[in-house]
Amino acid sequence: MRKIIIAGNWKLNKTSLEAIDFVTMLKRQLDDVTAVDIVVCPVFTALADCSEVLESSNIGLGAQDVYWEDSGAFTGEVSAPMLKDIGVQYVIIGHSERRQFFGETNTSVQKKVKAALKHGLIPIVCVGETLQEREANRTFDVIKKQCEESLAGFSAEEIQKMILAYEPVWAIGTGKTATSQQAQEVHQFIRQLLVKMHGKDTASTVRIQYGGSVKPENIKELTSQEDIDGALVGGASLKEDSFVKIVKNCCDVQK
Ligand code: PGA
Repeated sequence: MRKIIIAGNWKLNKTSLEAIDFVTMLKRQLDDVTAVDIVVCPVFTALADCSEVLESSNIGLGAQDVYWEDSGAFTGEVSAPMLKDIGVQYVIIGHSERRQFFGETNTSVQKKVKAALKHGLIPIVCVGETLQEREANRTFDVIKKQCEESLAGFSAEEIQKMILAYEPVWAIGTGKTATSQQAQEVHQFIRQLLVKMHGKDTASTVRIQYGGSVKPENIKELTSQEDIDGALVGGASLKEDSFVKIVKNCCDVQK
């Protein structure tokens, strides 16, 4: 049994005050939800305030990135113990926008995942192919390399503590969702990779989210696929109505 997990990736949006308003509303509207794990990932500057609002609620808190060193001369970075200190529980690592615009590589992703686990944060590790790679029939090669390198050196026990997210780059923020079959095909491929790396028992417990233009209208069909265990939601997580609906629309999906 894998519990569905819906995470909102707010990206570079919302000031602290806007974030406080939003999570206060979410808490009210989603307080009866137990069937789905819910997470919001605000910008660093809003995390501490959101943490206070969400304390002892059913909504988890995630950061959008983390550095692998604990402290030192690394101007501009934020470390895992610092996130942990203010009540953060999850961290998105290797999002395609970080890979595309900020030089994130599989090697840096691996180091960040290691640091997150060391300090008890749950990493949400993102992989996904570009349109060019998909059109060149390279999707599976790209995903395999990203998974093998980003997840290199972790034990089965550590892998079970992670969440993976498959986010086809061509579907992010474009309104172009992968069909549920296209998504399921890659999710199944990722799970088979995990089987090869760590055996069936481990692979069957790891949750794999889909990301890329998820909306209230498509969440149910996506999460009804055998290997799709939730979603990482960008644009639609910024609006009260759509995020609440996304969570509610998959509450009765059984995995
Ligand atoms: P989107 O973004 O839902 O706006 O496509 C998803 C993501 O980047 O995590």
